Amino acid sequence: MPLPYHAGKSKLAKTISKMVYKKAEENPSIKNYAEPFSGMARVGIQVMEDDKNKVFKKYIFSDVNPTITVLFKALKKGWLPKTGAITQKKWESYKKNKKPSAQKSFVGYTLGFGGQYLGGSKPCANKHSVKTHSVTDWTEIMLKRKKKYLKGLQPYFKSSKFMYKEKSVFDLDYKDTIIYCDPPYVATAFRAKKIWDKEKEKKLWDTIKKWLEPSKNNIVILSNSKRTNKTKGLRVKKIYEDDVEYGSWKKNWKKRKEMIFEVVNTSGRKTRKKRGGVFKDIALNDIKVGQRYTVTITSYHALFPTGSFRGTFERIRLHSNGGRHFHFSTTTTELPRPNAPVSVSIVEGELQKV
Ligand SMILES: C[S@@+](CC[C@H](N)C(=O)[O-])C[C@H]1O[C@@H](n2cnc3c(N)ncnc32)[C@H](O)[C@@H]1O
Repeated sequence: MPLPYHAGKSKLAKTISKMVYKKAEENPSIKNYAEPFSGMARVGIQVMEDDKNKVFKKYIFSDVNPTITVLFKALKKGWLPKTGAITQKKWESYKKNKKPSAQKSFVGYTLGFGGQYLGGSKPCANKHSVKTHSVTDWTEIMLKRKKKYLKGLQPYFKSSKFMYKEKSVFDLDYKDTIIYCDPPYVATAFRAKKIWDKEKEKKLWDTIKKWLEPSKNNIVILSNSKRTNKTKGLRVKKIYEDDVEYGSWKKNWKKRKEMIFEVVNTSGRKTRKKRGGVFKDIALNDIKVGQRYTVTITSYHALFPTGSFRGTFERIRLHSNGGRHFHFSTTTTELPRPNAPVSVSIVEGELQKV
């Protein structure tokens, strides 16, 4: 990661980058990569590093945090930071002066406590275990290390493909773009509550819905600690889940749940085109006996005691599952015997929880 960031995605960057390339490969009309909650852009940098085959034409980053945007805009212009030691006095004067600058962000994030901008009453507050150097000498070592790393990334930042905007996610729109969203997590990040809440999350889902209008040809991948969407017309498919270690420098640290979703527009468009591909993507583990589901099955084969039947039905109750054959009862009258338990193998279609 360019600089430490308290909710940074360094642990998952490689995993997410792989997902991005898989999606881009499956959808060759995708031209750009975007990260509207860039933070320190850990994932985006990984994506740029992995783009050996020049898949993307543009990398579009943005964030609302001016202490981040000032840094990336300077890096884009070829700026590199100074690395002189930071005394306690300098640290305090940085904290007093509220005006952001690239140099201040470089110092503030590199030496701040736990990846927080100018976090802690002294620089390198979480480096108390370093006995070999004074704190002031240590600040210089850290800044030099980070500068070297940033210098290595300069070709990416200076490239004409790299764009950085200070913009709210709600004011953005894209076309032919794969969009990776890493919003603050309402459920877990107590700090985020100041800048993010349930209302904003709802607004984000409406924004994503707009990005996913079929004519825009976008793909949305989203990180969160749980499934939060309740927006009609959007389906949120979990594609990854893990308990990831963060903040082990804290006393009571614990693993954090990380989930990655692909968001799909389900209004007005068939999302499942592949024959026989349906069960693979439904995530069998998510399907619960007794739970009600809405099914839009465009083609299926159902076996009854009386013979077989083809057609479409909706609103079924799942009684048990086993591999590719599920047992349903249904309220539809389309079946020869309503509510009769049947064995259905779905050839093509989509299954969603009610
Ligand atoms: C979880 S962090 C992203 C971390 C990033 N993936 C990384 O690896 O560094 C969420 C980011 O969303 C930004 N943010 C909060 N509200 C926003 C909004 N309305 N529009 C755009 N960005 C926003 C915050 O400033 C923060 O940088």
